[in-house]
Amino acid sequence: MISRRRLLAAGASTLAFPAQAQSVTSLKAVAAAKGFVFGSAAASYELKDADFVPLLLAQTAQLVPEYEMKRDALEIQPGVYDFAALDSLFAFARRGGLSMRGHTLVWYYANPKWLTPLLAARRDEKLLTGHIQAVLRRYPMESVDVVNEALAPPGTAARADGLRPSLWLDAFGPGYIDTAFHAARAAAPGTRLVYNEWGFEQGAVENDRFRATTLRFLDGLLKRGVPLDALGMQGHLSAFGNRVDQRKLRDFVAEIRARGLALLITELDVEDIGGPSDIAARDRAVADEARRFLDVVLDSPATQAVLTWNLSDRYVDAPDEWKLKLMGWRFRKTPYDTQMRRKPLWDAMAQAFAGRRVFY
Ligand code: G3I
Repeated sequence: MISRRRLLAAGASTLAFPAQAQSVTSLKAVAAAKGFVFGSAAASYELKDADFVPLLLAQTAQLVPEYEMKRDALEIQPGVYDFAALDSLFAFARRGGLSMRGHTLVWYYANPKWLTPLLAARRDEKLLTGHIQAVLRRYPMESVDVVNEALAPPGTAARADGLRPSLWLDAFGPGYIDTAFHAARAAAPGTRLVYNEWGFEQGAVENDRFRATTLRFLDGLLKRGVPLDALGMQGHLSAFGNRVDQRKLRDFVAEIRARGLALLITELDVEDIGGPSDIAARDRAVADEARRFLDVVLDSPATQAVLTWNLSDRYVDAPDEWKLKLMGWRFRKTPYDTQMRRKPLWDAMAQAFAGRRVFY
């Protein structure tokens, strides 16, 4: 009797389950059958694409705004909001029966130009908490990235506490993070509060240091009673660069679970920079790296969601077409190509999802 895991490893597209064989056609269905959510980032301009919308509805159970919820896209002037694009995404999700997660309330980047000088002039915490309240009171979200990328990236010089210099740190000191989470809990008691970050997945020595710094950072938050529910692990992988280290990743995921935190994979994609010109070879390497990553994170009951950072290559870095042309080729980071055809990455995800053990 071939074990299910060996069957999946053989790349069977029909995933034989003990009781019945069923062809997997939807990533969200196979994820739901294993007790977690599959979703993707989406942008409002994509909702006009008749090729793309049916795919988004069929494949995902949750969306996260790629940029419409960032402060530079929302708060045109202090306290003056243009919610139109974000409203359209939430309305689309509601009509389609999809849940939403939020990204992001507090970040060192993608802030409106008026914010930095105003913070420098008035160190008024309302400039931090008012935005959190305005967004969370308007939209029901399953989870939200309260703070994104507050730590100095792997391999860069960091303060003793590991924090990245930012307008927030300058204005309010390290306590801005605690303040943000408390404000978010008060504004949206039913929403899961997430700290979102990248750099945990790979095996280089700077990633070792970064994982250790992150655990110290999280321990500090938890010790001070900060209402933190989950770690967002972005999952930006590289098929030909700094690869996933499965042992180190497994140990890190166990540390996250030991702290009683959920783990959300928030921005999964696999960069193929440095790959060969042969598209099939690049696609195979992208699929293999995603599989190596998912096999580890999905082997933990802490992992409760996997979202890709775009569902189709058509929308990867779409606004920066010049960047893609400059590189002479398109990224192939996502489960569907620019013509909305499934790629080996899709199969690798379906197999990883289906292979996840039941936890007792
Ligand atoms: O909406 C304007 C448009 O009016 C204008 O014509 C165009 C000119 O380029 O810019 C458009 O806004 C761009 C926006 O994406 C929407 O396309 C911004 O300039 C551009 O900076 C923004 O880039 C986003 C970036 O975050 C910064 O917000 C990317 O789409 C998005 O993929 C990227 O996502 C980040 C996550 O938030 C955090 N983790 C890393 C991830 C990838 O970098």
